[in-house]
Amino acid sequence: MIITIVGGGSTFTAGIVKSIALRKDELEVDEIRLFDLDAERQNKVAVVVKYVLDVELKSGIKLTVTTDKEEAYKDADFIFAQMRVGKYAMREMDEKIPLKHGCVGQETCGCGGLAYGMRTIFPMIEVIDDAEKWAKPSYWILNYSNPASIVSEACRKLRPNARIINICDMPIAIIDVVAAALNIKDRENIVYDYFGLNHFGWFTSIEYKGEDIMGKLRDYVMEHEILLPDAYLKDKAALNVKPKEGQNRHTKGSWYYVWKGIYEIMANFPETLPNTYLNYYLQCKEFVEHSDPTHTRANEVMESREKNLFDGIDKYLETGIVDEKTFYAGSHGDWIADLAVALKNDTKARFLVITENRGTIPNMPYDAMVEVPAYIGKNGPEVISQKEIPLFEQGLMMQQLNSEKLLVEGCIEGSYEKVLKAFTLNKTVPSMNVAKAVLDEMIEANKGFWPELK
Ligand code: NAD
Ligand code: G6P
Ligand code: MN
Repeated sequence: MIITIVGGGSTFTAGIVKSIALRKDELEVDEIRLFDLDAERQNKVAVVVKYVLDVELKSGIKLTVTTDKEEAYKDADFIFAQMRVGKYAMREMDEKIPLKHGCVGQETCGCGGLAYGMRTIFPMIEVIDDAEKWAKPSYWILNYSNPASIVSEACRKLRPNARIINICDMPIAIIDVVAAALNIKDRENIVYDYFGLNHFGWFTSIEYKGEDIMGKLRDYVMEHEILLPDAYLKDKAALNVKPKEGQNRHTKGSWYYVWKGIYEIMANFPETLPNTYLNYYLQCKEFVEHSDPTHTRANEVMESREKNLFDGIDKYLETGIVDEKTFYAGSHGDWIADLAVALKNDTKARFLVITENRGTIPNMPYDAMVEVPAYIGKNGPEVISQKEIPLFEQGLMMQQLNSEKLLVEGCIEGSYEKVLKAFTLNKTVPSMNVAKAVLDEMIEANKGFWPELK
């Protein structure tokens, strides 16, 4: 069994490898391959990956580190994709350009997500084509690469038969926080229902050992005016505190506002638990106001997760000791590794996946890529059908969906007009002229990454 990680130089690689190695027996994995375009970055990350496999876990799993596609993909069973096209330098642009024009500056939501999508669509299609060419015919691509919503729509449109499942770790990260808030230690006993688009969805029910805990959660959020457990807040999860690794990165730095925003949304709309990302749409004005246009999440991540990783690797090379700050292992890696276990061993375990609607949500288009619960077996996701969704959520989703679909069409056709419509339609953008100003600046910033728009 061979697992290939595309984006081997990612800050998440070591954590994912650890999750794979801890499931060595279930996955029967013999070899892990790292593939990246940036050899220098990947070679450094490989140092700590080798430590995890050989020293920490004594796994016996072979490690191959390569920038050669054939060597990376040949006979692979699983391809875990997690590439960041343009790396953090372009993430910074995605966040800072919209803010200059008074719009939300976020890597996957609003203009930033659309820009990141324009860079990622064709590289992701290349991953599919490479897998088709070299991997085992039964390959599965499990994709984390963002913006997952736009990426999955492009894959559906251009490579409808590809064996790819797009996933996101945010709902599971939210459930981790919910469990901590309600003092639940065995998070695996929480079962939830959820619908939406990626980074654009709602939990409609949450049960713990069969008991509905949505009411308890609502009481918690109303009492504390934030969805962050005291333990996290005491640990200075709040503002102006740089995210530290080894703790829950989702609760650090500017992310504070999204957990505060859960309270603000639930105070008005108490029936469901919103995904934290809905804040960027429902409170776009306020999120612009408390953003620092000169220092965004990309800077926070470069100063913490990325710096800790590479400093930690240097320190390991000097001292032979891996500091716990070096990398995070946990839910993010577990989610993708467990999905591979479910596919391989036909376990029918329950996950959330981003998949073509095909009637799952009756009042959304057949071809919308939606994020919904599914049981995972050897033939892929068996999706759990949903009820009709309410007008408010459906209206928001349609606007977002059509913005993303226009972006994908515009990118494929090289159409400036369609891409401008995608930006104009996005809820985070107040007017057509602002959309045009942001788009024109982004075209300049993305030279060499975006297809030419005419
Ligand atoms: P990172 O910049 O540390 O790592 C990304 C790596 O991808 C880099 O080493 C880069 O050189 C490489 N890369 C870029 N283009 C490539 C290409 N065409 N082929 C192969 N490799 C390529 O970024 P990160 O913060 O560790 O995040 C990695 C990815 O995972 C991002 O896309 C991020 O958005 C995504 N992510 C997704 C979720 C989710 O919920 N879906 C969660 C966490 C991270
Ligand atoms: C969540 C989302 C991911 C996103 C990440 C960003 O996990 O689900 O899609 O990539 O947050 O986190 P960061 O720490 O890089 O800002
Ligand atoms: Mn995500």
